[in-house]
Amino acid sequence: MSKSNHFNDENSNTSANPTFDSVLEQRLLNRRSFLGMGASAAAVLGGMSLGLTGCSSGGDVVTPGATPAPTVGPTPVPTAAPNQIVTRLGFKAVPKSLADVVTLPPGYSYQVIYALGDPLTAATTAFKNDGTDADFYNRAGDHHDGMEWFGLDAAGKPSASAADRGLLAMNHEATTDEKLSSFFIHANGGTATLPRPVAEVDKEVDIHGLSVVEIKATNRKWATVQGSSFNRRVTPLTEVEIAGPARGHALLKTKFSPTGTKTRGTINNCGCGKSPWGTYLSGEENWAGYFYRVSADDTNRGDKSVVALKRYGRNAGSTSRHGWETAGADDKYARWNISKTGTSADGSDDYRNEMNGQGYIIEMDAYDKSKALKKRTALGRFAHESAAFGLPVVGKPLTVYLGDDSRNEYMYKFVSKAVWSAADANPSDRIAVGDKYLDEGTLYVAKFNADGSGEWIELSLNNPLIKNYAGYTFADQADICINARLAGDAVGATKMDRPEWGGVHPVTGDYYQTLTNNSNRDINAAASPKLVPDSANPRAYADADGIKSKGNPNGHILRTKEGATVTSFKWDVYLFAAEADMDKGTVNLSNLTDDQDMSSPDGLAFSQSTGICWIQTDDGSYTDVTNCMMLAAIPGKQGDGASKTLSYTKTDGSKLDVVTQVGAAPTADTLKRFLVGPKDCEITGLCETPDGKALFINIQHPGEGTKMADVADPTKYTSQWPSNAGYGAGKRPRSATIVITKDDGGRIGT
Ligand code: FEO
Ligand code: CA
Ligand code: CA
Ligand code: CA
Repeated sequence: MSKSNHFNDENSNTSANPTFDSVLEQRLLNRRSFLGMGASAAAVLGGMSLGLTGCSSGGDVVTPGATPAPTVGPTPVPTAAPNQIVTRLGFKAVPKSLADVVTLPPGYSYQVIYALGDPLTAATTAFKNDGTDADFYNRAGDHHDGMEWFGLDAAGKPSASAADRGLLAMNHEATTDEKLSSFFIHANGGTATLPRPVAEVDKEVDIHGLSVVEIKATNRKWATVQGSSFNRRVTPLTEVEIAGPARGHALLKTKFSPTGTKTRGTINNCGCGKSPWGTYLSGEENWAGYFYRVSADDTNRGDKSVVALKRYGRNAGSTSRHGWETAGADDKYARWNISKTGTSADGSDDYRNEMNGQGYIIEMDAYDKSKALKKRTALGRFAHESAAFGLPVVGKPLTVYLGDDSRNEYMYKFVSKAVWSAADANPSDRIAVGDKYLDEGTLYVAKFNADGSGEWIELSLNNPLIKNYAGYTFADQADICINARLAGDAVGATKMDRPEWGGVHPVTGDYYQTLTNNSNRDINAAASPKLVPDSANPRAYADADGIKSKGNPNGHILRTKEGATVTSFKWDVYLFAAEADMDKGTVNLSNLTDDQDMSSPDGLAFSQSTGICWIQTDDGSYTDVTNCMMLAAIPGKQGDGASKTLSYTKTDGSKLDVVTQVGAAPTADTLKRFLVGPKDCEITGLCETPDGKALFINIQHPGEGTKMADVADPTKYTSQWPSNAGYGAGKRPRSATIVITKDDGGRIGT
């Protein structure tokens, strides 16, 4: 999602959860045991430099080779061959850049393969890219985001090893817009007033959702297969099933589905995941902004739904992002008005409950159009990003890590009731396996302690804090899943700096979570939504030059390791994003150099082939110096660094000491910038062929800073990518998938 609009970081968490103030006063509860973990990690990793040892105590010396701490938690089973894991990045770092091009290291090349509007059926005409194209339900959608690879063998059957033919399943998150209109897809820029014309709205709806496209390499040149029987669009109008505890629940009843068992479509799909049984998982993120409520709706409702709507960012009187509800009386437009308009007691005659049908992880079988798409409600409802599976262990439950990307929101994990069976890795009915693992289980929310420990708190009526919560009365588990944010409030979960994507290290099993930024961090914060920094979100500062963003403008990447029980974990901050010229003692805590510095990490995924952690940015703070980028990292493991105290002085002269846990600083061999994108884009989405030799990423919304009034004048576009790279007709910028290959045919990043 773009940085330049307000839909991607809405802040509706005004709960009175304690911040870390009280916890921080305890100071260093268990620093020595934490450092014991560091010593253990250092021993394992051959005594690598521990970089930061900023603590004041003289006892903070880590002795390489010290007796390792006992291993805790389940033993991870690597999903990548450990002997294939890269220990040193083999390319030359790419410099920061403001050029309207994709820059790669020497020895690497890319091709654009799939851009907004590209035809998916044999009968669909070539994309003219002048605003006159229609039938987007047969074309690539807009704002390509999360994406996964699904291999096909020569016979067109699913294959875990195929590396030259496969499907890309991807999210089409949103659209480049200004004043209601998605202006690049309308000839004259579209209508910026209400009511919105039907023809414009129909196109705008259809460019959202998901797509599946077959791709093929011939002599290492990749292209989509137009007319492949696998090609597919899912839009906000596609009928989908509600699955899990909320299926059939009173809060899901609508005029479209009086039984509360289905809804239409998926919207604002951002991060993603791939299940161990081979399905695509997509996170519905900033869906709330598409719905409209009349100003009298609180009074008209007069029930607890008012609390829930407010908590999810839809106060009475909220206008919608595109005004789709104004296009006509047809039900497909009326559904975007979630005001109570009917007279029924249960909402089956209007769309007052329509928004409860969005906000989930939705599962799709990319190989099989005949299978229903299912919203997995057990995984909670919030601004979902990725769904990252812990390393599967036969006979143990599966873990799925989840983040809620809004300012001050929470991190979650879902643990399945069913235990993993190896036979489910290659099933005949993949969605049935999804039913088995994703519809029953336990949802937890994360609470971080200053000493590097943490707690996964169960979200269920078993927890008295939820059962007796004064802020909202939960009817049952479905109500808890649908209103997971309120349940997180009830148990005092830790408010985070916008959890974006996460990924699980294929060998250590550690979970890495990007926290992209948070303008609400403030050392002088007195009341919500402003927050003082805490241990897990420890920085609040102003960019010293350039754009001068405040709060935590550059973000960080947090890392967790499961503990001895399902409710315990350990954590540290793997990496603090920062500008290289910022102070190393307070802001640039990971000692980033000019080859490594970055702002607002967002996408994150591990290569199963090389173990490289790919980090992608969606930034608005460092864009005076560089366009958004992708970096390659070889992280160590949780606990490989040290505790550090950040000492702040508030404007009233009082002190605020924040204890945090800083991972070992990267070296020139373990973190490098690999790619810089064109102007005004975000780099996102990542998947690869199983041999690690073709890497697919998405360039989202190049040129999004263009003004709607300039739509007819290409010289005023802030980007003309990918047409300036030789791809497609017209000069309007387009979101697109690229494939990156190494000229010598090797694995990417080696
Ligand atoms: Fe769509 Fe949170 O990024
Ligand atoms: Ca600077
Ligand atoms: Ca994102
Ligand atoms: Ca983002």
